[in-house]
Amino acid sequence: MIPVCHSVLAPYEGIIPYLQEIDRNQVYGNDGPLLLEFEKRLCQQFDLNTGDLLCVGNGTVALQIALLALVEDTANSLCLMPSWTFTASPAAAISAGLTPYFVDVDTETWALTPEIAEAALKNCPGKVGCVMVVSPFGYPIPIKEWDKFTEKTGIPVVVDGAGMFVEISCANTPVVVSLHTTKCFGMGEGGFIASRDQGLMKEIASRRNFGMMGSERLSYFIGTNAKLSEYSAAVGLAQLDYWPTKFKILAEKANLYKQLLDQIQGVRLLPGYGKNWFGGNLIIEFEKPIAKEASEFLHLNNIETKFWWRQGCHKQEAYKNFGSDPLPNTEILAASTLGIPFSVTLSNEDIVYVCEVLEQFLKPSLSSSDLFRGSWILRSSP
Ligand SMILES: Cc1ncc(COP(=O)(O)O)c(C=O)c1O
Repeated sequence: MIPVCHSVLAPYEGIIPYLQEIDRNQVYGNDGPLLLEFEKRLCQQFDLNTGDLLCVGNGTVALQIALLALVEDTANSLCLMPSWTFTASPAAAISAGLTPYFVDVDTETWALTPEIAEAALKNCPGKVGCVMVVSPFGYPIPIKEWDKFTEKTGIPVVVDGAGMFVEISCANTPVVVSLHTTKCFGMGEGGFIASRDQGLMKEIASRRNFGMMGSERLSYFIGTNAKLSEYSAAVGLAQLDYWPTKFKILAEKANLYKQLLDQIQGVRLLPGYGKNWFGGNLIIEFEKPIAKEASEFLHLNNIETKFWWRQGCHKQEAYKNFGSDPLPNTEILAASTLGIPFSVTLSNEDIVYVCEVLEQFLKPSLSSSDLFRGSWILRSSP
């Protein structure tokens, strides 16, 4: 079976020098030298000033502390967010004391737009404390547009850019990136928050460490322990050393997919995919709501697939009772999008094969009974 996702981290030889540094330093947490070095190098990567980017234990806790810093009265506020996301987004809002309210997304980009958010504000059943915009699978959210939204409405915005890394243009609106293994950078567990708003970042730095400032063990803000340990920073630094190699391999694979899928009728990629950006996972959209049938056909042909965001958060047991706008576009995306294999270890032959199987599946002459008779199975089970 060709795996849908297969993560490879920097080899241990690359991590050893950093572990030796930890032994020499005998500092293991709390803004240690490796963490500061990791943050500095990430700032260089995204052309940011020191202090504009802070690492955290994972993306979910990063969203939680960003929300705590952005919203004054979390207990009495809604967090307007798309249902078309992973459940980490509403989980983080709830951890910050907010109540999620689900809204629909744009069909072209699968993301919330300022226009959709503004329209949704008119019907919201309560005070909106914050808008959470979610990047679908690494799609680069135009963050400056959200700065304008905040200037116009007075409502703060956080970008859940968990899947972003390749293309990030920072502004005042904070963006949260996950460095989880399944994401394109991937370092096990980890994440960062980036914003050019220095005051906000100072507060986030404090909330990352129980809301304390200075060495007096006094908490000025509600916070939590969202720090990244020196050991994780060691893995992150080794992963940054490996990143140019990994980036080149993944960029070539994303580009090959783009070229091949562009030639197949009935399926599309998000705008700019494979040219300007890619994420850790690859999701395609069919013109028709046939993702389930496609998934079954691909599985029969030894290709693993995944419905990364299932039917949207509003359909998940834990979140189904939260308020929601009508979500027609989300329903369409749930039925027409599918995660297909993408990883550094995926061979070009496998990419060609996946696209051939997709093309066979989408052939107009095929009836659905043909698809499941097995006559189109291209690669037999091992
Ligand atoms: C859209 C989205 N938001 C948030 C997260 C949470 O990130 P983490 O796993 O680093 O906590 C994820 C992780 O998969 C995600 O996909």
